[in-house]
Amino acid sequence: DTSAETEGDTEEASSEKLVIGFSQVGAESEWRTANTESMKAAITDAGHELKFSDAQQKQENQIKAIRSFIAQKVDAIVFSPVVETGFETVLQEAKDADIPVFLADRSVDIEDDSLWVTFLGSDFVEEGRKAGNWLVDELGDEDEVNIVELQGTVGSAPAIDRKEGFEEIIGDHSNFEITQSQSGDFTRAKGKEVMEAFLKSDGDNIDVLYAHNDDMAIGAIQAIEEYGLKPAEDITIIGVDAVKGAFEAMAAGKMNVTIECNPLFGPQMVDLIEAYKAGEEIPKRVAVEESMYTMDQAEELLPTRQY
Ligand code: AHR
Repeated sequence: DTSAETEGDTEEASSEKLVIGFSQVGAESEWRTANTESMKAAITDAGHELKFSDAQQKQENQIKAIRSFIAQKVDAIVFSPVVETGFETVLQEAKDADIPVFLADRSVDIEDDSLWVTFLGSDFVEEGRKAGNWLVDELGDEDEVNIVELQGTVGSAPAIDRKEGFEEIIGDHSNFEITQSQSGDFTRAKGKEVMEAFLKSDGDNIDVLYAHNDDMAIGAIQAIEEYGLKPAEDITIIGVDAVKGAFEAMAAGKMNVTIECNPLFGPQMVDLIEAYKAGEEIPKRVAVEESMYTMDQAEELLPTRQY
């Protein structure tokens, strides 16, 4: 009961009821849905008020949402930027209004890091490296490995970083080549559509699909089957996120590996906001811990997956 709080008591100050505005990217993937649920539940379970806005993957919607949070004088803004650039002005407006901004999941490419308190999210470059290293271990001895890449949303941190990390590893192996690469916008429908185009142009020469998320991989698996090839056998399939859908595909023998990107950091975010409000020093970067799962682990782990 916040009405019982007394001034100067830090224990109680940190449990002050806050109004938190959360500008989410959209609802483009299984990952995103799990992340939205985690964040909403953590904020409301902690007794805070949530103002939620879904940007439907559009930057202009996020800028509008943040301006509306500022106008409503919220106590804190949680923000998952659709793309990395173009948010300076609105973040400066939040700073001028003395409203702290917490970056969730995706970061921004902005020099002035006083525009946000902290960035809590995964290391996407490292995820790309994990995908590359797995592939090198798996197919490093082959003479020629032709890879098609389904990139995430153009200009988004996970698309840029997952590409960079993957290329960093395979760049050291002259037998690996990315032959086709295009954005599937992190959705199943687009993943399927772009994979159909890849197959149409060079279907007999694709050895590997590297998809920047599982949803696009799952869409692509459908395209591969419709084309008459066997996913995971004729074409090695790598995804990112480790959502249930990927475990189901792996358990069915249709996908080879998924690199974990954990969306369940709502409670960690609320802890950071409360700690900041209680005057504690907050690190500028907080990482989410994650792993990697292969086909042979899928059946055993599927029942315990939480997203
Ligand atoms: O920013 C995280 C990425 O966004 C997830 O990997 C993807 O599924 C989502 O759409």
